[in-house]
Amino acid sequence: MRDVDVVIIGAGAAGLMCALTAGRRGRRVLVIERSNKPGKKILMSGGGRCNFTNMYAEPANYFSQAENPHFCKSALARYTPWDFVALVAEHGVPYHEKKLGQLFCDNRSKDILGLLLEECRRAAVELHVSTSVQRIERHEDGYRLETDLGPVRAPSVVVATGGLSIPTLGSTGFGYEIAEQFGHRVLPTRAGLVPFIITDQLKELCVELTGTSVAAVVRCGEHSFRENVLFTHRGLSGPAILQISSFWHLGDAVEIDLLPDRDALDWLQERQAARPDGELRTVLAEVFTKKMAAQLADRWFGSRPMKQHTPAELREIAGRLAHWEVVPAGTEGYRTAEVTLGGVDTAEISPRTMESRRAPGLYFVGEVLDIAGHLGGFNFQWAWASGHAAAQVV
Ligand code: FDA
Repeated sequence: MRDVDVVIIGAGAAGLMCALTAGRRGRRVLVIERSNKPGKKILMSGGGRCNFTNMYAEPANYFSQAENPHFCKSALARYTPWDFVALVAEHGVPYHEKKLGQLFCDNRSKDILGLLLEECRRAAVELHVSTSVQRIERHEDGYRLETDLGPVRAPSVVVATGGLSIPTLGSTGFGYEIAEQFGHRVLPTRAGLVPFIITDQLKELCVELTGTSVAAVVRCGEHSFRENVLFTHRGLSGPAILQISSFWHLGDAVEIDLLPDRDALDWLQERQAARPDGELRTVLAEVFTKKMAAQLADRWFGSRPMKQHTPAELREIAGRLAHWEVVPAGTEGYRTAEVTLGGVDTAEISPRTMESRRAPGLYFVGEVLDIAGHLGGFNFQWAWASGHAAAQVV
């Protein structure tokens, strides 16, 4: 029987942060990672440059499937983006703000994974990859785990197995199984921060415009995001679409304002007066790429000289451009999703320590919980903050 102070299941962002912090406190930490490498999602994140935090991260950037808006406050307040930035700076990792407070590595994501692993090494954390846990049992003296390393005993177990997105990166539902084993409710999961698939008559437009990106405001219900929309051969993507996908349910319409900086009708009337002989497609090319302007004008309205468009037609064109309604057929699902929505219900987890209220000594950190963040470094900040919170008490 191997005895340690804490077993952490999963060597992703939250698990590694928890491990290095608990290790620094002098705890004997054993990390068990099922896949052949730690931190695979960190390596893949941010297009290979890891958007490791957001300077403006605050509770309003997070949401749950079960309403519990206060849950993330304590952990986020006690480990802020600046705490992680200090760690990054300490390791001399160069970084920059890309936009909207999003901090990215100048070089590669492996700089972030490298510093986490170096901190784990300094804190004498024992990390095993390609290793599985078969069983967990609770006894009076703590937890006993059956693992590929043999039996392990520890007073604290931290579940840091992440969500279900990108199965090829090692995602499993094991964390949810453990939660259910100990009587926790697991809220239904679905893909978030994920592109839309379009299959109706709009598909052709998406295919024609694949690679084109346009600034827009995208709305679904009470939620709206102002960012870019990207046309793809499958449908729609880009930051605005990924953001809204987290609030979208099958059958919902999504409204896209393609002219977010102006009143569409005022602008069309003004251009009609200024360029009466100019074709609609030429006028639209003042604000969209030439290709997009031609596609919209020809497919939607029939491009003619501006003076030939009646006031009623101008209203229709304005309405279509400012309130373009799209009903996605679905999302690309976990295959490409950046996060998993739903997961372990936070109602029975301590927001201060991430400890289970049903099974003392059992902790849940990171994405396995029913907490997800907006796009832009917020999900890693949650992983760091929740991992850090648990590490104070394990
Ligand atoms: P994470 O998934 O990182 O780690 C879980 C670990 O547990 C994995 O190593 C897994 O192999 C292991 N595991 C699973 N089951 C196990 C089992 N049964 N036994 C042992 N180990 C097990 N966020 C952000 O803020 N900025 C960004 O730039 C990006 N970019 C991005 C790109 C892509 C392509 C994806 C898919 C995601 C992002 N994200 C992101 C989201 C971010 O990666 C995510 O929120 C965090 O990695 C979550 O951290 P966790 O540690 O909770 O899970």
